[in-house]
Amino acid sequence: MKFYLRTYGCQMNFHDSEILAGMLGRNNWSRVGSEEKADVILLNTCSVRRHAEERVLGKLAEYGRRRGSHSRPVVGVVGCMAQIWGKKLWERFPWLDLIMGPGSFTLLPSVLDLIIASGGRHLEVEFRDREELYRFPAARDRRFRAWVTIMRGCNNFCSYCVVPFSRGREFSRSPENIIREIRELAQLGYREVTLLGQNVNCYRAADREGNTIDFPALLHLIHETEGIERIRFLTSHPRDISPDLIEAVKVLPKVCKQIHFPVQSGSNAILKKMRRGYSREEYREKVLKLREAVGGIAISSDFIVGFPEESEKDFALTLDLIRRVRFDQIFAFSYSPRPKTEAYSFPDDVSEEVKSTRLQEVLAVQRSISEQKNQALLGEVVKVLVEGRNARRPERGEGRTATGKIVFFPWREGQEGRIIPVRLERATDLSLFGRPVG
Ligand code: SAH
Ligand code: SF4
Ligand code: F3S
Repeated sequence: MKFYLRTYGCQMNFHDSEILAGMLGRNNWSRVGSEEKADVILLNTCSVRRHAEERVLGKLAEYGRRRGSHSRPVVGVVGCMAQIWGKKLWERFPWLDLIMGPGSFTLLPSVLDLIIASGGRHLEVEFRDREELYRFPAARDRRFRAWVTIMRGCNNFCSYCVVPFSRGREFSRSPENIIREIRELAQLGYREVTLLGQNVNCYRAADREGNTIDFPALLHLIHETEGIERIRFLTSHPRDISPDLIEAVKVLPKVCKQIHFPVQSGSNAILKKMRRGYSREEYREKVLKLREAVGGIAISSDFIVGFPEESEKDFALTLDLIRRVRFDQIFAFSYSPRPKTEAYSFPDDVSEEVKSTRLQEVLAVQRSISEQKNQALLGEVVKVLVEGRNARRPERGEGRTATGKIVFFPWREGQEGRIIPVRLERATDLSLFGRPVG
């Protein structure tokens, strides 16, 4: 049997899809790249903004038309949107065969077998998966850089965010299992791991001897893995960036000098309504400490513009923060009210036009900062982990610096998977271009 799997959303979701693909592969399913050839179509979905959901609803309408009164292909919605919408998806798409939240993925092969054998609709929205989700290898899309989930769920309940509802309460994997997975990755030739969690700084689990391993301690353990040269992690909550974490990033050479810790807004009034648990002053203090301890650290962030009651003054504070911190990269989004969240009951009173103007402004300010920062690197020699040829320009090789910036250079055979020195010659706001040295 053949399955088609399409993913929306964050890195966590993309990695979940690698896990699902691994599970189905072991159960004699083969993956196909086109919907037309598939016996089963699965959409691994995101609910974080309305736009992400609308793309899925559009796809489902298309599948419904195509399927007509037939029972093939089997169609399943899995992941965050399945969790949030649950049975409500059947009100719109009564023919939908499967709705499965991100806490029930281990059931996927058996439920699909059941649907294939005897039809029927299935809904699985319990949070039951624990370590067993990671018992077998994921079918990873990339060869040298691997995602490794260290925790699932979130307990923060920021007022705008659906994630605590779509992914449930926080759960940290056991350190032994994480280390075992990373050792296996090293043996398969992986050079880099990105540790994933909605809030990795809250990682906390007991090892076999009963010692508590927190996130900095976990970084120390992973650092021992032979063959793994680079360690990254996503996402850090500003409140939970501790002196121990800063120290670990400073003293562990394999831990990349890069941190993504979303501030969301530069206005204390808005931060308070978002329930983020820090002020702009506290955020800047953490930035300062990180930069003092770890020279050259790349800092990136997320922003939401147009949160309820965000005034011109609040927004000006966001722009001011962006200019003061001088991030290496940011991701910015227009506020989108999400059912179930606290902010859903606030008036969504910033118009779409104003949201869009603010979004453009934030992005423009950042574009010039990113460009200046990248220009300042010209002439330097940076270490690039070579991922392979560029798909569109095969004469180019591509890879990333330890700070996470993408670098293009003339391609030579045999570079793949190696860390090579590249002298930087040209820069835009998004990429760097150079030539291998030696
Ligand atoms: N766990 C991460 C990110 C979760 S979602 C963290 O705590 O930072 C990724 C990003 O989507 C968030 O950082 C935020 O900027 C954005 N986001 C979340 N909910 C949103 C909403 N309702 N509207 C617009 N953007 C949102
Ligand atoms: Fe959402 Fe906040 Fe949790 Fe991040 S920390 S996933 S923004 S609730
Ligand atoms: Fe990720 Fe979207 Fe779920 S951001 S956690 S896939 S709601």
